Order: sequence, then C-alpha cells, then structure tokens
Amino acid sequence: MVLPTLKIGERLARFPFVQGGMALRISTGVLAGAVAKTGAVGTIAGTGMTLDELRSEIRIARSISDGIVGVNVLFAARKFAELIKTAISERVDFIVSGAGFSRDMYGWGKEASVPVVSMVSSAGLARLAQKLGAAAVVVEGAEAGGHLGTSRSVKEILPEVREATDLPVIAAGGVANGYEAADLFAMGAEGVQLATRFIASEECTAPEAFKHMHVATPEEDIVLIDSPVGMPGRAIRNRFWSDVQEKGMRLPRDVCRSCLKRCSGRFCILDALDRAQKGDVDGGLVFSGSSASRIKEILPVREIVRRLVEEASERLRGLQAEPAH
Ligand SMILES: Cc1cc2nc3c(=O)[nH]c(=O)nc-3n(C[C@H](O)[C@H](O)[C@H](O)COP(=O)(O)O)c2cc1C
Repeated sequence: MVLPTLKIGERLARFPFVQGGMALRISTGVLAGAVAKTGAVGTIAGTGMTLDELRSEIRIARSISDGIVGVNVLFAARKFAELIKTAISERVDFIVSGAGFSRDMYGWGKEASVPVVSMVSSAGLARLAQKLGAAAVVVEGAEAGGHLGTSRSVKEILPEVREATDLPVIAAGGVANGYEAADLFAMGAEGVQLATRFIASEECTAPEAFKHMHVATPEEDIVLIDSPVGMPGRAIRNRFWSDVQEKGMRLPRDVCRSCLKRCSGRFCILDALDRAQKGDVDGGLVFSGSSASRIKEILPVREIVRRLVEEASERLRGLQAEPAH
C-alpha cells in the first residue's frame, strides 16, 4: 500500500497530511504557509481574529507558499459568518467550520467556488455534508485537542464514515507520528489531520512555554474540561484547569465581550485561550490532543512532514507485505 491521494476541490496535495486549525492564534499564517510549502495542507484558525487580522494572516501564508491553505472558524463564534466570508474573499483553498455544523456555509462556498470541508463525528453527519455539497470531511475522534463533538475514538468512527460517503475522508485525533497515521490510511482515510504535532514546531508562532507544554506531557495530565461553548474540550492540566474544577468559576458579567453566539458563562473562553497564547500557560487554557504524551521534540515543519511521509510509507509497505489471514 502506498500513501493515498488527497484532493480538496480541484487541488491535489503532494502529501496527504493536514495541519488542523488551532485557535486562538496558534495556527497563524506563518505555520499554515510553512506546512503548505512542504506539499502538505495548512489551516489558519480565524476564530478570535479581527477581519483585517485574518486577511493579513492569509496573505502571510500566501507569501510563503502557493500550496494549499484553508481557514477554520469556530461555528459558535459570533463573527463566524464575517470571518468565513473574509476568507472566501481572499480566495483561500477551502473553508471549514469547527465545533459545529453550518448549513449556510455551503451556499457561500458554492457561490464563490471555494470548497467547503466539514468536520463530522458520525456517519449521519458525513451523509448530510455530502448532500449539502462538501468537498471533503474531517472525522475527528475524542483523542483530538480543542472542542470535541464526540466521546468516541477516531478508529471507532472512521469505518462508518468511510462507508457512508465517497467524499475524501480526513481522519483526525491523537496522531503523533507517521506510523499512527498509517493505521488510519489502512482503514480507508485519504488524509490524516494533525494539530498538536504542529504546535511543537519551530514555525508555530505560539510562545516557547506553550510549545514545550506539548512535548512529552504525562498522559494523565491530558484532561477534559467543560467549555462554555457547551462542549467538552481536551486540554493540559494546569492551575487554570484545577481552578475551573474546584471553584466552578462563573464569568463576571462586566468582562464579557460577547464573542460566542451562546455561552454558559462558566469562564471566558476568549480570555482563557488568549492568556495561554500570550505565554501564561498556568493561568490560561492550553488545548492539546492526547498525542502530546508521545511527541518528543520541537522540530522544523519540513522535518515533521518528512518524518510523517517516511514513517507512514514504511508502515504501509509493511502492512502490504504481511500475509493475509
Ligand atoms: C490548541 C488547539 C486549538 C484548536 N483549535 C481548533 C479550532 O479553532 N477549530 C477547530 O475546528 N479545531 C481546533 N482544534 C482541533 C484541531 O484542528 C485538530 O482537528 C485536532 O486537534 C487533531 O488532533 P491532534 O491535536 O491530536 O492532532 C484545536 C486543537 C488544538 C490542539
């Protein structure tokens, strides 16, 4: 078995690896551009940015590479529509909504001929995405970092999604290296999305303290938190996490910036992610996938992709050589 071919709309990726979008300002234009330059797929996270900032990040990515770059925006964000429309006007290669399903987005994408990629966590949602006109689906399991739409493992959901759609399927959640990615390719995925692995990269613009949190994190420190978005999120245990568990924090009304369409008010997600992104990795919320326990070092993006390709190819060749039972 060789590496599969990943097509998003009309564009063919040289390598079937996607760097997932990471808010707030964890996956910016520099990271997405560096990933696209290798022949893999980069994603800028637009959530929490101003429209001008998002425009500028897209142009930064474009100045680094003419490879495949998309934009991800959290569906729950109040500025969801404006940010997605800004990405469309900048002619990104695809748009994707995080933590929620937007029907409107398909119309916007179709009108401008910008492919829509949908995050799904079940066969039903994959069928719906195909019916609405998605160009590909990302099936994300509970191993992933950030907001989670399911408590099931990616390996449990992938077969039913593969069965339900003939769109390109990109599997995501908990992948630390090419060997692990190969298992998902062998199950029928055309692409594998990784996010946490790319935090521990030289090009990620997050502070060093934030990046180091994602290297060799003890497994028991990668935990779940109830996000005010109304979903659980996977994050790293720190003082902020303990405070939320112990004090059950409530958001004082006067600090609310109305960033979400709906918010439980438990804590301010914008403030919590912003703090961590600015380097306060104990007092802020540090999202992370379960793969952080198996990531060993911070590497240049080029080397991360080179190893992913080499390891996945080696494992797939091995699987082919194994006698069928
Ligand atoms: C710090 C961080 C922030 C994230 N932010 C977003 C986001 O804004 N939108 C989204 O759809 N997914 C987000 N994710 C999920 C990733 O895009 C990706 O699908 C997932 O983390 C893959 O699993 P992995 O991190 O184990 O590789 C985030 C993940 C992390 C680790």
